[in-house]
Amino acid sequence: MAENDLMDKLVSLCKRRGYIFQSSEIYGGTGSVWDYGPLGVELKNNIKAFWWQAMVLERDDIEGLDAAILMHPRVWEASGHVEGFTDPLVECRQCHRRFRADVPEVEGGQCPTCGTRDAFGEPRLFNLMFRTFMGPVENAASQVYLRPETAQGIYVNFLNVQGAARQKVPFGIAQIGKAFRNEITPGNFIFRTREFEQAEMQYFVEPGSDDEWFEYWKEARWKWQLSLGLREERLRFQQHAPDELAHYAKVAFDIEYEFPFGWKEFEGIHNRTDFDLARHQQYSGKRMEYIDAPTNKRFIPFVVETSLGIDRTLLVVLTDAYHEEVVEGEERVVLRLAPTLAPLKVAVFPLVKKDGLPEMAEKLHKELRAAAVPSFYDAAGSIGRRYRRQDEAGTPWCVTVDGQSNEDGTVTIRDRDSLEQIRVPAEGVLGWIRERLR
Ligand code: GAP
Repeated sequence: MAENDLMDKLVSLCKRRGYIFQSSEIYGGTGSVWDYGPLGVELKNNIKAFWWQAMVLERDDIEGLDAAILMHPRVWEASGHVEGFTDPLVECRQCHRRFRADVPEVEGGQCPTCGTRDAFGEPRLFNLMFRTFMGPVENAASQVYLRPETAQGIYVNFLNVQGAARQKVPFGIAQIGKAFRNEITPGNFIFRTREFEQAEMQYFVEPGSDDEWFEYWKEARWKWQLSLGLREERLRFQQHAPDELAHYAKVAFDIEYEFPFGWKEFEGIHNRTDFDLARHQQYSGKRMEYIDAPTNKRFIPFVVETSLGIDRTLLVVLTDAYHEEVVEGEERVVLRLAPTLAPLKVAVFPLVKKDGLPEMAEKLHKELRAAAVPSFYDAAGSIGRRYRRQDEAGTPWCVTVDGQSNEDGTVTIRDRDSLEQIRVPAEGVLGWIRERLR
């Protein structure tokens, strides 16, 4: 399948099945902003919950946090974002469209939009932070930023969390939240957008132990990616060359996925040294040192950061799950999502709309929902079409109530991937599904 074909198909499946819609579509859409529909929001929540489970709930050494999006503007001076969070921008002298100067399409000097040759002058640096005003007065003193990364909320709360949770270095702070970047060239569906979500964890360690912890987190994050059920051959590490490093990083590795549009990053692991805490100490005048209780040793910890894009991970999960195949002479599209991530775990169908089958199917569907197993009831259309709809939605199991159910109380469970069907007692369905969601 051609690369663009696959992306087009994914975008249209996402709309059709209620995963992702273009923002403000009735007004012609907003530049590169997307809304998550009924299935999309569930998939996103499941990815976030899966991350939170591994990074916070299962660990004694990581605390959660939910810091605000708007922060004191000095935070972004201290962090280096006011000065350094920029992309080089060029403008076409003919059509006045603006582009990132460091992308292959404009490096030859020809405008990709109007075709003018020698179209660009010297690039200028464009700051990617969104700006707004706090309160009713719009002036320089009231200007604030929408955070371009969630990490700074963690740094400014480092001693609050450490003291309140009585943590000792090494320990980490994790949070999931929105971040905003006024990207010059967003695109590739939800890959590069101007509003997105990050799941970030800053791990505070004693200086000198940072290289070791960096290796630990590289390995831990790789394992987590595999636990999403992704194809390993489509994942790789990519180290940042010295000229690619962010202003705060000593060493950085990306975890990349092979998208239809090439190998691209969706998680970064960074050694941020003591850059951020030291700068906050300098700019705020407040101590950001850690004091070790028995030894009285004082130091500004080094930080190993793991930074995952939630929207990009969702795109990775969808891309990896998307399959087209021919089953018994018929084409089908199937999302082979890991059952733990799938928005719907099960769909329940009455084979026909008579003989009490709808009532029995609805009863089972309601029992599943009441037991917190996301279930979908569908009595519309042929059984084949109902299966196809669920295959496209990524629902791992379909339960059908049929004539035999009336006689012996059993139903069939069809597996989305193997297409195998087994018969089980209706009252055993919940247990059967729970067993497979562990
Ligand atoms: N705190 C470090 C940091 O923000 P980053 O490499 O700039 O590092 C981390 O971003 C992750 O955030 C990326 O790997 C990506 O998944 C996600 N991300 C960054 N910019 C994005 C954008 N414009 N749209 C969607 N996701 C983005």
